[in-house]
Amino acid sequence: MAPLLGAHAALPIQTTLSVSQEAAGPRIEPEVYGHFVEHLGTGVYGGLWVGPESTIPNTRGWRDDVLAALRRIQVPVVRWPGGCFADDYDWRDGIGPPAQRPVRLNKVWGHVPDNNRVGTHEFMDFTELIGAQAYIAGNMGSLPPRSMSQWLEYMTSDSHSTLAQERRRNGRDAPWRVKYFGVGNETWGCGGHMRAEYAADLHRQYAQFLRSPAPVVKVASGDGEGRDEVTEVMMARAKDDMDALSLHYYTVPGTWEHKGSATGFDAQRWARSLQVAMHLEDRIIATSRIMDRHDPQKRVALFVDEWGMWHDPEPGTNGAFLQQQNTLRDAMVAALSFGIFQRHTDRVKMANIAQLANVLQALVLTDGEKMVLTPTYHVFDMYRPFQGTTPLQATLATPDYRQGDITLPAVQVSAARAADGAILLALVNLDPVRPARVRTDLAGPATGRSLTAPAMDAHNSFDRPGTIAPAPYAATPVGGRLSLDLPAKSIVVVSVPAP
Ligand code: AHR
Repeated sequence: MAPLLGAHAALPIQTTLSVSQEAAGPRIEPEVYGHFVEHLGTGVYGGLWVGPESTIPNTRGWRDDVLAALRRIQVPVVRWPGGCFADDYDWRDGIGPPAQRPVRLNKVWGHVPDNNRVGTHEFMDFTELIGAQAYIAGNMGSLPPRSMSQWLEYMTSDSHSTLAQERRRNGRDAPWRVKYFGVGNETWGCGGHMRAEYAADLHRQYAQFLRSPAPVVKVASGDGEGRDEVTEVMMARAKDDMDALSLHYYTVPGTWEHKGSATGFDAQRWARSLQVAMHLEDRIIATSRIMDRHDPQKRVALFVDEWGMWHDPEPGTNGAFLQQQNTLRDAMVAALSFGIFQRHTDRVKMANIAQLANVLQALVLTDGEKMVLTPTYHVFDMYRPFQGTTPLQATLATPDYRQGDITLPAVQVSAARAADGAILLALVNLDPVRPARVRTDLAGPATGRSLTAPAMDAHNSFDRPGTIAPAPYAATPVGGRLSLDLPAKSIVVVSVPAP
């Protein structure tokens, strides 16, 4: 029986796809492919920044290998300096002559010293080097509103105020453009353990003093624990003082105490991870519903400004550094998350994966001079053409993928129209064993890339950096209809030219 079952298991899943030419919502903002960098472990020091005096090739301190990788994926926005770190950070520690900056303990992440070599000037230089917008996360938890307000003035004022002159003395003449400013982070947790009512009042107070010559998108801290009452209270009491509300969502395959290993997991953990990842859509729907009630015009955006997989730390590493390997499973979660953001463009205007380098679901891993791109990096690269495109309604008839007590649609799809009229399709086959055939109602040929590997936990290491990488993909229509064959556990992104 076993060989027969095996043979059946490998039969392709049969699905049909119909793509409407009508826009399914506002455009897919480039910022939903955004990033997050925190002073946490080697997320900044080592992972991105090595300092100008390093033997590792760098530009004004920033690693050249990482800069090149980030330029390739067109990073739209970077959030910095936290996370939890933001509410314990004094921006004044990070300006002025580097050697004279104070050394502070990073009390949030392991009590390790931070010499503040990366501060405002360095971070803003980083954003300019990769062509990204800056999303500054301000401290509402442990500094007064005056400090937040002065940081914004220091960065953005073109005047001859004392703060603007101080910026000039510190080497930057022209003001920077700060498009996004976060007013605190996780107010219910590390940001101050506040009640939602208090957080809403505090947000109003701090936001009031965030005045800048150029408009700045003020982001309020929202839910991150699946608690709708946080959204409800923030919207009811503070919606007029915010331009966006944040939502944090982590895919934890196990419990917070025992999240599970990033590698060496079984099919049940695979399925469970994808199920938890897809639950993000429920959180977005629930949050949007509350926002819709308070803000039917949809003026306030939803920023999913922390998302990604959270595993147990790599054995032998400092647990406070949140270092983890990154496999095909992480790539699948990234692709599923993008599909979700692309389906909710009416509200979701930004999303920031946690985090860019060496921390949680990282895009790059570094060890001294070595650097490796993760499967998650490759997903960002493959989805790059979706930035700024128009989402299209895609209707997929798919059987389920079943694993133990878990049932999920076997194939997920998202579709968009590019500026040149081409149709972009992203397809994810969740089944780790069975390939899938997608019969579409499109008539053109498809070209793009696919990402898969023989093992569910395939990953790139410093010794084997090319274990998992995108492969070219092409399909031509037969009898005037395009069919796409998806390998088991794969992501396929293709473009079909306009007829
Ligand atoms: O990304 C790691 C941490 O997760 C962030 O600092 C915090 O905002 C969240 O709890």
